[in-house]
Amino acid sequence: MNSLSIEIRPVTPPDVPAISALAREIWQATYPGIITQEQIDFMLEQRYGHERLYDDLEDVHKWLDQAFYNGRRVGFAFSEIYKGEFKLDKLYIHPDVQRQGVGGQLIEHVAARAKKNGYPCVVLAVNKRNDKAIGSYKKYGFTVRESIVDDIGHGFVMDDFVMEKKL
Ligand SMILES: CC(C)(COP(=O)(O)OP(=O)(O)OC[C@H]1O[C@@H](n2cnc3c(N)ncnc32)[C@H](O)[C@@H]1OP(=O)(O)O)[C@@H](O)C(=O)NCCC(=O)NCCS
Repeated sequence: MNSLSIEIRPVTPPDVPAISALAREIWQATYPGIITQEQIDFMLEQRYGHERLYDDLEDVHKWLDQAFYNGRRVGFAFSEIYKGEFKLDKLYIHPDVQRQGVGGQLIEHVAARAKKNGYPCVVLAVNKRNDKAIGSYKKYGFTVRESIVDDIGHGFVMDDFVMEKKL
C-alpha cells in the first residue's frame, strides 16, 4: 500500500496544547488492556503535561517532531540523546491513519537525524504487550536488545522491551 504523504514539522510552543490532547486521544485508544487507567493518567500527566512539554522544547538534547496529513495533525515522534544513545522516545499516530506508513516515515526521519549526528543505532522502549507497535518496529528494522522492568514511581512499572535499529 502507498504511504500517506505527510509533512513533518518541529513542534513549537503554540502546538503544546494540541500535542497534549492528541497524546491523550491516542493513549486512550492504545493502552486500556495493556496498563491500568490509573497508570495511563499518571504517565500522561508526567510526560505530556503542558509544563513538561515546554521544558522538553527548551532541551537541546531533545527533538519534537509532528506529522500533518492534509493540514491535520496526525501524529508525533520525540527523539533524544539518552544515556549516550539516540532514542526514539515517543511515537504516536492517530488511529484514523494508522497502518498507512506515517509511523514508518517518522522512524526514517528520526533515524536520519541519528545517523547525521554520528550515532550507530536508534534505541527505544516498548511495552511488552504492545504487539502492534512491536510488529511495526520489527518491520522497520528494530530487534529486541533486552527486557526491562522500570519503576516509574507511585507503584507503577514499565514492563518493556528495549529495541534497537542499527544504522
Ligand atoms: C505503532 C505505530 C506508531 C505504527 O505507526 P503506523 O503509522 O501505524 O505504522 P506503519 O503504517 O508505518 O507500519 C505498519 C506496520 O505497523 C504494524 N501495525 C500498525 N498498526 C497495526 C494494527 N492495527 N494491527 C496490526 N499491526 C499494526 C504492522 O507491523 C504494520 O505492518 P503491515 O501493515 O505490513 O502488517 C502506530 O500504529 C501507533 O501510534 N500505535 C498506537 C500508539 C503506540 O503504540 N505507539 C508506540 C508506543 S512505543
